[in-house]
Amino acid sequence: MSEKVQRMNTDILVIGSGGSGLRATIEAAERGANVLIVAKEMMKDAHTGWAMGGVNVAIKDPATPQMHFEDTINGGWYINNYKLAHIFAEEMPDRIRDLERYGVRFDRLPDGSYFTWAGGKQSAPLNLCAGDYTGREMMQGLLAEVERHRDRITPLEHHYVARLLKQDGRVVGAFLIDMQTGAYKVVQAKATIVATGGGGHMYRVNTNTPSNTGEGYAWALDVGAELIDMEMVQFHPTGMAYPPEKRGTLVTEKVRGNGGILKNRLGERFMQRYQPKRLELAGRDEVTRAIYQEIQEGRGTEHSAVYLDTTHWEEGKAERLVPDVFAAHIEVGIDIRKQMMEITPSMHHMMGGYVINEWGQTNVDGLYAVGEVTTSVHGANRLGGNSLAEGQVFGRRAGVHSSDYARTLAIPTIQDAVLADEIAQVETYLKRTEGVTPASVLSKVKDTMWNYVGIIRDEEKLRTAQNMLSELQQEAQHLKASDSAELQGCLEVQDMLKVAQVITLAALVRTESRGAHYRADYPQMDPAWEKNIRVKQDGEGKLVTRVTDPVK
Ligand code: FUM
Repeated sequence: MSEKVQRMNTDILVIGSGGSGLRATIEAAERGANVLIVAKEMMKDAHTGWAMGGVNVAIKDPATPQMHFEDTINGGWYINNYKLAHIFAEEMPDRIRDLERYGVRFDRLPDGSYFTWAGGKQSAPLNLCAGDYTGREMMQGLLAEVERHRDRITPLEHHYVARLLKQDGRVVGAFLIDMQTGAYKVVQAKATIVATGGGGHMYRVNTNTPSNTGEGYAWALDVGAELIDMEMVQFHPTGMAYPPEKRGTLVTEKVRGNGGILKNRLGERFMQRYQPKRLELAGRDEVTRAIYQEIQEGRGTEHSAVYLDTTHWEEGKAERLVPDVFAAHIEVGIDIRKQMMEITPSMHHMMGGYVINEWGQTNVDGLYAVGEVTTSVHGANRLGGNSLAEGQVFGRRAGVHSSDYARTLAIPTIQDAVLADEIAQVETYLKRTEGVTPASVLSKVKDTMWNYVGIIRDEEKLRTAQNMLSELQQEAQHLKASDSAELQGCLEVQDMLKVAQVITLAALVRTESRGAHYRADYPQMDPAWEKNIRVKQDGEGKLVTRVTDPVK
């Protein structure tokens, strides 16, 4: 056994190298903890780098933290964690100052003040940005800061975490596979922070990096942590519709926040009918459903899309304001200065996730979670710009708390028998010569979620999804892998199936429409449902739900 597994020790294990994971890592290292950070790919390739339009913060008049808080709650349709949302809005200006200290540069006007813009459902401009590559800019600053603390930080790139390990009621680290050599490793950690991001790749059309496969949520079930608001899946209104290989690619809200107009095939500014006041800057949930309806009722384009028009923008505005969107369209032969974009809703973000407190602690000892894999402040629908932001606030907080917590403990020793069991499970896939490939199961998961647990849901669709997911789970008993990449695929798709079932179950339980969750059979928002749905796995592996009041 011992020769098969390399043991690594650390105070804190951080899983995921996006904005929240990096911020937690920096904070814990600054406070004297040794941190091991694991990334599936290169650290720089985390999904945060794909974030475009901005990071919300009340940093310039007339925006105030109180407005930021209220917009966040209104956007979330009142099931947010109010306590965390308060902390979030208050602390965000300091987190921007940290980022600037790390070398991040946000856009400024000629007078030197910040350039900010208002996104959907914002009552004042809260969005601070770097062009339309805000995530990339933040990643370079955060990674530079990690480099400055390299004496305390050990990065492990191209490593896949197969499972969190729990011993004596406490999470004590994780079992990993080195994707380049196939070697097994175990990290023995005093505290573990899950920062694995979302699970966009459960859906056929999405804006996410391929690494967003959602296993972090499945680990919660394995170790007895509670998930909340999992039915709340956000579909961004504007993903590229065409060509097929680009379908879903994000077209930032910054386009609409700066005068981009949505039109149907008939040239009508259809948002006038759905949201006459806010128009294109209604909530993402509202704009997405309006676009969906236009397409369903036959007013969409030949590519099942609607238009996003910037052809009226003054000269130079497109290249200056949204250079990545401009370039992505030039690449496919569309000049957005002269031609309208074709856009379609695209799965973008999961509002639900681990239940955490204000320090990023879950209900399981030794386990913290930060970023998209948690539910912290967003409720039933997240405001554009609040994701990059909350990762900074709660990433820092988890770094503070976990480093204090780790100081009180010794490095755990994970039993050989536990590791033998992990290896046996993983090797089942490699030993199987007959069976199904992960790619074939994944494709069916994506279609099931897109078609039956998507923008518009109802009981019949959700029950169909449950049956299809159960069948896929049977099929997944025969998953086989011929190399490390396929092995990763097997583990990912197994976990996705669990998470997909949680989403579907929570969507069935919520018999109303609220935020991103729309039930055609319960089209109204019901005040009695101003509640959260929590999901956990019981001792027999069965999912159990409970309904609770939001934290206020
Ligand atoms: O549209 C966007 O730029 C996305 C931003 C976000 O989801 O926060």
